Amino acid sequence: MLSSILLSASRSARLRQIVATTRCTRPVVDRFVAGEDLGDALGTVRELTAAGLTVTLDYLGEDVTDRAGATAVRDAYLRLLDMLGPEGLGTGAEVSVKLSAFGQALEKDGHDVALANVRQVCQAADVAGTTVTLDMEDHTTVDSTLAILDDLRKEHPATGAVLQSYLYRTEEDCHRLAVPGSRVRLVKGAYREPSSVAYQDKHQVDLAYVRCLRVLMAGGGYPMIGSHDPRLIRIAQDLASRYGRAAGEYEFQMLYGIRTDEQHRLVEQGERVRVYTPYGSDWYGYFMRRLAERPANLAFFLRSFVPS
Ligand code: FDA
Repeated sequence: MLSSILLSASRSARLRQIVATTRCTRPVVDRFVAGEDLGDALGTVRELTAAGLTVTLDYLGEDVTDRAGATAVRDAYLRLLDMLGPEGLGTGAEVSVKLSAFGQALEKDGHDVALANVRQVCQAADVAGTTVTLDMEDHTTVDSTLAILDDLRKEHPATGAVLQSYLYRTEEDCHRLAVPGSRVRLVKGAYREPSSVAYQDKHQVDLAYVRCLRVLMAGGGYPMIGSHDPRLIRIAQDLASRYGRAAGEYEFQMLYGIRTDEQHRLVEQGERVRVYTPYGSDWYGYFMRRLAERPANLAFFLRSFVPS
């Protein structure tokens, strides 16, 4: 219930304005967001990679409503990738993109605008010696995002995608994408979806996650386990050994600021761990989804409004 309210709030322009301009939210936001500018992002990449972690950088921005906004997001990624290569960070850090920030939702030609923008980002990633992963947004965007993935993989075969276990369709998508060279991040899913397309019960979502993970681990692609759930992490390690995958033939991914100790513990065990690291000033939607995932975060957030 609370999580549904927060997910609705994540789409509210009015709340966005109030939360984003309230100064006392900053320390709470900083727990989940690496900073507002490129310098902050690169500094965080250096810190995380020095600790044996790898990174996927997300320039925050979503639901862009005009072409100029989409171009600005694309250019922010191009500037980032321009820096990653020369700084020698291209082996440890890749980028994640939300196609809604690249124009996917534009009424006219949204799909094509997003494809043209993200293609340039993939070209820049090749030059920087790294890769791009397409985040997955709400269910109305899945067909378009997977079609864009198919197009991109013709020239940039290492482009990755995200699949969400809460969607009924995902097990089938896993079968199609569990092929050599294909990188798939499996997550539970972070949007409010109707029962016509998605499991509503957490246990059903977890069971679906395990079924999907089995398909990915058994297949020929590169599974990326995007979860903080201790039970799923254990199951992933069991499945990896059952299907003869050594560490490095799959990876764990977690969000910046969440279960940091577990990220380090897995690295110590010899696992590859990638930290999804968002940066930029448009943090509202991302931040609200993190609150929705865990009511304790909301209490922490509300406490920040109480003067000490
Ligand atoms: P679950 O929510 O059951 O959490 C397990 C445990 O992890 C909790 O008990 C708690 O300890 C900790 N935890 C989880 N979330 C927390 C939070 N917000 N704050 C503090 N602790 C928390 N979704 C999507 O729809 N599209 C996408 O592209 C992505 N991309 C993505 C990348 C990566 C690297 C990750 C890890 C996740 C995503 N997600 C996503 C989000 C995903 O769908 C899901 O909402 C969250 O990962 C929470 O689910 P868990 O699997 O972590 O389990």
